[in-house]
Amino acid sequence: MSRTATGRDWTLEDIPWDIFDAQKVDPDILKLVKAASLVEYNGGDYATYLCNVFRGDHEFQDAARAWADEEVKHGRALGRWAEMADDSFDFERSFQRFVEGFRLPLDATRSVRGSRSGELVARCMVEIGTSSYYTALAEAAEEPALRAICSKIAGDEFRHYKLFYSYLNRYLEREGMGRLRRALVALGRVRESEDDELAYAYYAANGEGEAYDRERCSHAYLQRTCAFYRSRHLRRMVVMSFKTAGLSPRGRLAEWAWRFLSWRLRHRHQMAKMTNEAA
Ligand SMILES: [Fe+2]
Ligand SMILES: [Fe+2]
Repeated sequence: MSRTATGRDWTLEDIPWDIFDAQKVDPDILKLVKAASLVEYNGGDYATYLCNVFRGDHEFQDAARAWADEEVKHGRALGRWAEMADDSFDFERSFQRFVEGFRLPLDATRSVRGSRSGELVARCMVEIGTSSYYTALAEAAEEPALRAICSKIAGDEFRHYKLFYSYLNRYLEREGMGRLRRALVALGRVRESEDDELAYAYYAANGEGEAYDRERCSHAYLQRTCAFYRSRHLRRMVVMSFKTAGLSPRGRLAEWAWRFLSWRLRHRHQMAKMTNEAA
């Protein structure tokens, strides 16, 4: 099988690096891009974990390896851009700092979500998050090379979602995971997006020798991230998440979820801003 997970391959050479404009680099976006580059570049470890969890399913394992290659490529593209935007940023050294402090459960042989279907629900939720994130970032960024990178990545992330969703449907037939359980795993994964991985990546990429303060890094990360989302991004996240959980994406519950998400994002943004201003 081809080593592309989505069938839309591109390389770093396809990025229009020559249109990079240092005057248009936003310092807040630069911080986020540095953090994202480290999480993406760690995709190889996720492939190891997924291959352990899906032992015996060779087709899925091939797809997971190809998927991880694309995530690593995202890390390289973002890392290269961040090095162009800031000569003091050393992508490889920051990545070493990140993996020294954050490790995935590589020796797990069962999904930490309880089943393969649960794992696929969680993978779908991550891709929903990343496809929306890079879409929002591509629209918010003024620097043209970064816009091009984020647009390419957003397309990949959306296709990754479709890839995991198609495997989810296969495994649901075999494992019969109920809607309530799917919804709980999906919600659990949303809550985890505020966990250590992103906060630590933010620290590893942007810290300047001080000790890691999880809460401070998490607030700093969220304050910058929440500012880029618009209503349309949240709508799409709700529709895709509800599909993943097996719920109607256009019903009243989805409407409430969208309103709640909009409120929560505004609230998180305000809280993070107040905490940062007080620090
Ligand atoms: Fe990615
Ligand atoms: Fe992805």
